[in-house]
Amino acid sequence: MIRGKRILLGICGSIAAYKAPHFVRLLKKEGAEVQCILTPDAHLFVTPTALATVSQRPCLTEFTKSEDGTWNNHVALAEWADVFIIAPTSANTLAKMATGRCDNLLIATYLSAKCPVHFAPAMDLDMYRHPSTLSNISTLQSFGNILLEPGTGFLASGLEGKGRMMEPEEMVNSLKIHFELAQQLNGQHWLVTAGPTYENIDPVRFIGNYSSGKMGFAIAEALAQSGAKVTLVAGPTELETHHPNIQTIKITTALQMLDACLSVFPKVNGVIKAAAVADYRPETIAPEKVKKSSDTLTLQLTKNPDILATLGKMKTNQKIVGFALETENALEYAQQKRINKHADAIVLNSLKEEGAGFQTDTNRVHWVTESGCESWPLLPKEEVAKLIVQKIVSL
Ligand code: PMT
Repeated sequence: MIRGKRILLGICGSIAAYKAPHFVRLLKKEGAEVQCILTPDAHLFVTPTALATVSQRPCLTEFTKSEDGTWNNHVALAEWADVFIIAPTSANTLAKMATGRCDNLLIATYLSAKCPVHFAPAMDLDMYRHPSTLSNISTLQSFGNILLEPGTGFLASGLEGKGRMMEPEEMVNSLKIHFELAQQLNGQHWLVTAGPTYENIDPVRFIGNYSSGKMGFAIAEALAQSGAKVTLVAGPTELETHHPNIQTIKITTALQMLDACLSVFPKVNGVIKAAAVADYRPETIAPEKVKKSSDTLTLQLTKNPDILATLGKMKTNQKIVGFALETENALEYAQQKRINKHADAIVLNSLKEEGAGFQTDTNRVHWVTESGCESWPLLPKEEVAKLIVQKIVSL
């Protein structure tokens, strides 16, 4: 997927820059053309000579060439690239990208870029979790830039935590997937559900579940990055999405989720239902706070509509992908759900598997279709989402 692609590699002043020549070598081995641009301080961490040697192109830092004063044309550089990847992205460059402060060649090229931009933050854990850094990352995501999530582990400061630049091998994989997915869903419209539903008991209490929305939001992002327009119907969650291709409808209850889904379903190419929907709701909602009186309290529950099954029955050309969260006989129940709900595929996850299911940043899932079950390793939810998108392309 990378052969022949023109990759602009921006390198900032961060210790992770020492990995840049290795990253360039990996890209060159895949057959890419690589042009390096450094921020003024990046040479303190990696030499331009090393980068020029492995990339087989002069390494650029200044607006003009020192030999003859001619212009390093940032507009032409940006137009040349199929993709611009900024790795490592320092906290300083993140802030400049988010605010448009343009005082070096790398940022001028970034502001001129019409190609997809990927950025791989690398910094100490406290810098990474500072609200201003997190807010700058969100801003870049709202521009449609793609975050290459940093890893957790030993940092150059001697501390341990989140802030390690994504490893070069993983970045190459991510670019491969990007080129494979990019534009594959162009012109398509997908419906995604995410998060829990809350079913009110009285004005202060509800029946809910532990879904954080991370899985569903990651799927919405992956679809949007593949060129699809996405309607994301989200239950109560703190998460937000900024991708310009994603329109979010916020709901609270299963009935509201059903209404929101029905309103867009006839227009979409497919649906992915990652939400954890309450199967039952209180038959009546007490208008005032229920007072503590007797030792026991019985709530009469009534069944919620099965949204996935409802959409499955209505489908014309739409592809239907459901989730199944099981604790026992997982594969058997998943296959039953696929058949009963008229789904093309079920993404099965089990609460029995470590790192899978509710709230975690990772998931371990099994892709269940008529032809059988494919198991994937434990992966970040973003990577699981990309694999799901690859699968729906082939459905
Ligand atoms: O949000 P996270 O913290 O990241 O966690 C992710 C997750 C665990 C919630 C997600 O991976 C997941 O498994 N989602 C589905 C959870 C669930 O409700 O599973 P289920 O087996 O009960 O439901 C099967 C399918 O029917 C699901 O696609 C569900 O959305 C759908 N359903 C269920 C009940 C109902 N009334 N209407 C529905 O549409």
